[in-house]
Amino acid sequence: MQISENVIKGEIDELALFGGKPLFSEALHVGRPNIGNRKEFEARVKDILDRRWLTNGGQYVKQFEQRIADFVGVKYCVAMCNATVALEIAIRALGLTGEVIVPSFTFIATAHALQWQEITPVFCDIDPQTHTLDAPKVEQVITPRTTGIIGVHLWGNHCNIEALSEIAKRRNLKLLFDSAHAFGCSYRGGMIGRFGEAEVFSFHATKFLNSLEGGAVVTNNRDLAEKIGLMKNFGFTYYDKTDFIGTNGKMNEISAAMGLTNLDSIDDFIGVNRCNYEQYARELSGLEGVTLLTYDETEKCNYQYIVLEIDQTRTILNRDQIMEILHSENVLARRYFYPGCHMMEPYRSYFPHARLLLPETENLAQRVLCLPTGTGVNGSDIGLICQIIRLLVENGSEIATRFQNRQTGA
Ligand SMILES: Cc1ncc(COP(=O)(O)O)c(C=O)c1O
Repeated sequence: MQISENVIKGEIDELALFGGKPLFSEALHVGRPNIGNRKEFEARVKDILDRRWLTNGGQYVKQFEQRIADFVGVKYCVAMCNATVALEIAIRALGLTGEVIVPSFTFIATAHALQWQEITPVFCDIDPQTHTLDAPKVEQVITPRTTGIIGVHLWGNHCNIEALSEIAKRRNLKLLFDSAHAFGCSYRGGMIGRFGEAEVFSFHATKFLNSLEGGAVVTNNRDLAEKIGLMKNFGFTYYDKTDFIGTNGKMNEISAAMGLTNLDSIDDFIGVNRCNYEQYARELSGLEGVTLLTYDETEKCNYQYIVLEIDQTRTILNRDQIMEILHSENVLARRYFYPGCHMMEPYRSYFPHARLLLPETENLAQRVLCLPTGTGVNGSDIGLICQIIRLLVENGSEIATRFQNRQTGA
């Protein structure tokens, strides 16, 4: 990444927000795509074009599905155009209706995939340590209309899989996992993707393993896999014959080619992510009020998110002020998943009191800030980002006064 001349900033006046030059001359994004071997990708694209088979059960999609299933250790994988449609189809194929319990602290697609088909997402609070569904609280929001639970392995951190499975079994509910963040992560030695009725991965461009756009449902249930496979192709069981409603969720061949190419480099991507994570951990360690989310070191992890929690009572500056300063330096840190699904429409209007039941979600949504990582940033970028964050936090009171003065025009 190209940086401006004034590389090291040691003074508040050097901050871009207060008149200095931005630290980076180009924006540093969270989730800048990883791109594997270009030559291999181009060769695959050439082959696809030469054979004029662009979609509809092509060989690259089949290969991709097989590679994903083998990697995860499941029998079936159905690749799709994205994880949102994959979730919608999995939800429908499982026959979910009425109410389904989901975290609010997740990307909006988890909730929309339900509401899109008139199923009510019932938001449940999270465990503040893992940022995933708080299992005992799940039990409290089950009603006679509840048909399922969707756990989200947020940031790749596994849900409390055992507790959720036990509740689902005892209360006769279907358990599905939104594993959009968790490809390449394990639980008790086996890969995530083997739990519940099915799990859904995302291979969106911002995910560490991308197929441009893409998603997949993985399961060991043959009937379910078959139904999902048909539903993603309009429900066609034969030429000119459908047995039930379907949609168009197909992955195309170029996406599969990108997915296959990136799968060849998955160890490199995870290696870079891990190295970046360790550098952030080292360089931000001991910084008052700034905590880096930890991953379970006994499990495999993709380290694709650098998640900071900002405790304003100790940093003086709040998360949004820190983000504003970083943005002005061209570090486009993101406040995932602010403000929580329950605060976004249509859910905010449907459930105006939901926040009362979601104290941990509300609290976390004010604190989290995600930083750039992946192959798009290097060690020197990370060093500079950490140095800016350190400068901000160590001069919190003075910078807070400047923000105040800006507001009052003083
Ligand atoms: C938790 C979660 N679920 C679902 C999705 C939807 O994935 P896609 O963009 O592939 O539709 C995302 C995407 O970012 C996500 O973060």
